[in-house]
Amino acid sequence: MERLFLKHEGENPTGSFKDRGMTVGVSMARYIGARAVACASTGNTSASLASYAAQAGLPCLVFLPAGHVAPGKLAQSLAYGATTIQVAGDFDDAMRLVERVCNELGIYLLNSLNPYRVEGQKAIGFEILQQLDWQAPDWLVLPAGNLGNTSAIGKALLQAHQLGLIGHVPRIASIQAAGANPFYRSFVKGFTEREHIQAQTVATAIKIGDPVSFTRARHVIEQTQGVVEEVSDEEILAAKTVIDRSGIGCEPASAATLAGIRKLVERGVIKRDERIVGILTGHLLKDSQTGIPQQQAMVVEANVDAVRKMLHSFMR
Ligand code: F0G
Repeated sequence: MERLFLKHEGENPTGSFKDRGMTVGVSMARYIGARAVACASTGNTSASLASYAAQAGLPCLVFLPAGHVAPGKLAQSLAYGATTIQVAGDFDDAMRLVERVCNELGIYLLNSLNPYRVEGQKAIGFEILQQLDWQAPDWLVLPAGNLGNTSAIGKALLQAHQLGLIGHVPRIASIQAAGANPFYRSFVKGFTEREHIQAQTVATAIKIGDPVSFTRARHVIEQTQGVVEEVSDEEILAAKTVIDRSGIGCEPASAATLAGIRKLVERGVIKRDERIVGILTGHLLKDSQTGIPQQQAMVVEANVDAVRKMLHSFMR
């Protein structure tokens, strides 16, 4: 393919696209005088919220699915000083609990249910258009979990079109992991049913069985003539290797973007001569284990002969 662009949202301050909405969300929390802020997260939302809350001087509470958050993300929440609660359950349990607690205690909830976060996240869509000189791509492809990003970027593109900034609306392709695919299942049934599942995938960021922004994302897929695709864990890891080996790198969930593009091109849904933008959502170092070759680092005696001997095969 000749016109495939990848936008690396892992290069934001806390290493994921979540910063785009969180800076706006936390600013609003301060503006309205919130006492504290909270979220449930698979790890990136919490890292971002913890960081911006610390900057704003606001107490921060995060609910994580115990044992299912990549170490880099957990370390960020702890280091930035968030009260970090690990729920013995999955993300969907954590999400239900945090909503309940926020309502009861009057804490400001900053999951993508929060409209200001969505408004901030639209910046990704506008920035892509600006960087392409307002020549809209044919496709915008991104990984899909809780569906906040599909909703936000879709809204940005539709508004840019309404405002006359672009000549056509790009089609959105939301890519789910096959083991965490409630949106895909609903899409193939023409959105006549909404399903909840017990999610399972190596891409822990998108291990979500009951996404909160389902309805908004559904409208985006319908209004952009979009598609929802699923990819296996093997396809995600194969795509991650390609992105990593190119010297760019990303976390596993982000690689669903490239795995999805490959699949949609093979199926003829995306044509090879179309212009495509894929979003990489998180930095490689967020998850330093999954899908990374754990070959033994070469240890050598500290003398030049030993090093020469070892490098003999390297230079051949
Ligand atoms: N990619 C990464 C790296 C993510 O962290 C997420 C979501 C997604 C893709 C999917 O985006 O939820 O807007 O559909 N992470 C959330 C979190 C759930 O808590 O960090 P989405």
